Amino acid sequence: MKVTVFGIGYVGLVQAAVLAEVGHDVACIDIDQNKVDALKQGIIPIYEPGLTPLVTANYEAKRLDFTTDAKAGIEHGDVVFIAVGTPPDEDGSADLQYVLKVAETIATHMTRRTVVINKSTVPVGTADKVKEQISTCLRDLQKDVAFSVVSNPEFLKEGAAVNDCMRPDRIILGTDCDYAEKRLRELYYPFNRNNDRVIKMDIRSAELTKYAANCMLATKISFMNEMANLAEYFGADIENVRKGIGSDPRIGYQFIYPGCGYGGSCFPKDVQALIRSATGIGYEASILKAVEDVNSRQKEKLFAYMMTHFAGDLQGKTIAVWGLSFKPNTDDMREASSRVLLENLWEQGAIVQAFDPEAMEEAQRIYGHREDLKLVGTKEAAIVGADALAICTEWQSFRAPDFTHLEATLAHKVVFDGRNLFEPEFVADYGLAYYGIGRGLSI
Ligand code: UGA
Repeated sequence: MKVTVFGIGYVGLVQAAVLAEVGHDVACIDIDQNKVDALKQGIIPIYEPGLTPLVTANYEAKRLDFTTDAKAGIEHGDVVFIAVGTPPDEDGSADLQYVLKVAETIATHMTRRTVVINKSTVPVGTADKVKEQISTCLRDLQKDVAFSVVSNPEFLKEGAAVNDCMRPDRIILGTDCDYAEKRLRELYYPFNRNNDRVIKMDIRSAELTKYAANCMLATKISFMNEMANLAEYFGADIENVRKGIGSDPRIGYQFIYPGCGYGGSCFPKDVQALIRSATGIGYEASILKAVEDVNSRQKEKLFAYMMTHFAGDLQGKTIAVWGLSFKPNTDDMREASSRVLLENLWEQGAIVQAFDPEAMEEAQRIYGHREDLKLVGTKEAAIVGADALAICTEWQSFRAPDFTHLEATLAHKVVFDGRNLFEPEFVADYGLAYYGIGRGLSI
């Protein structure tokens, strides 16, 4: 099928590459000429395992192309994805200006019956707005072209995006149009071989499904973080509790890992956006507000342990930080817990020596101007001359450190672990003080 993807961000690029891989003919449009030029040379703007070879191979096979020419791009596709960003407004609601601008561009250039697919995460009711925008533009231009708008949210995870997109758990099709449904079933047929992946529903339910999924996952995390905080007061170990409840299949083990809070470009933004949408219709989303509150507090957790441990005196201390990205296998530091820790430490006059396997360039971009940050090339270099170690991201390479070396190197012999990577007893055997999340404040 001839496919157009408008917006070569994270979602758009992965989706485009995967569709090209199964044989569709995909044109990607973006307004950023530099990005388009770079992609044509095989330079991928994000770190995502498996994406670079996929993009390069499909570009070379001429199944995937990149352009800034909206007219040519839109004329190409029978279906046009809108995959542009919906950044939060000042009040946390999703800003739809880019989505609506693309809708206008589509109306301007479309020449034949087109299915417009909303892939961006957008508030319930946006498909109606997109429809209205396209209809108004067509009327103004005195064009008579048939179109339908479909809500088809994405559920990919950073770090596993290619696989998630290749082997989706579900393909949500929100549409009230038989023609559009048929085109989308055809588009996704290669991913739906056992015919059990497509879930067809009305548009508004599809839009809400996306938010409900992310908010549910965020709720699981905040719930566990709340339990972890209680475990500390009760002298219980949250890791035992986690195993104890996860064994109930109704609860399950996934997404119940306590830690120093969730981050990234999705959970914080989507929870806030749904709270705002709810407020807009006069409903107070109490659970979601609590989810957000618990998470904000949780991001302060490692810092709070440090303040306790060092009796409020972090002035001049050097803190080694392992992990800056909001989770492993990505260089993304948006809303990362590490940022809250770093900024708190700097406020107290501490110096940070940080290492992340992928996010060093990103850290340099965000904090490169700071003299109280040293970005170093290895996790070993981060602890040289440090008083303490803090871990913010559960990269695999952090899971089995040389504890003898840590004990010999860290002046204050203490580890603050925001991802519960170690067994406190093992760490204690090496003479290190250890703070895990919800593990009884063992020292
Ligand atoms: C999330 C969802 O998992 C995807 O299904 C969704 O498609 C995506 O948002 C999106 O809307 O685009 P992502 O933001 O890439 O994906 O990251 P996750 O793997 O969900 O992790 C989010 C945060 O939760 C991370 O900071 C992670 O450390 C934290 N987390 C996760 C926990 O603290 N505990 C857990 O048990 C799981």
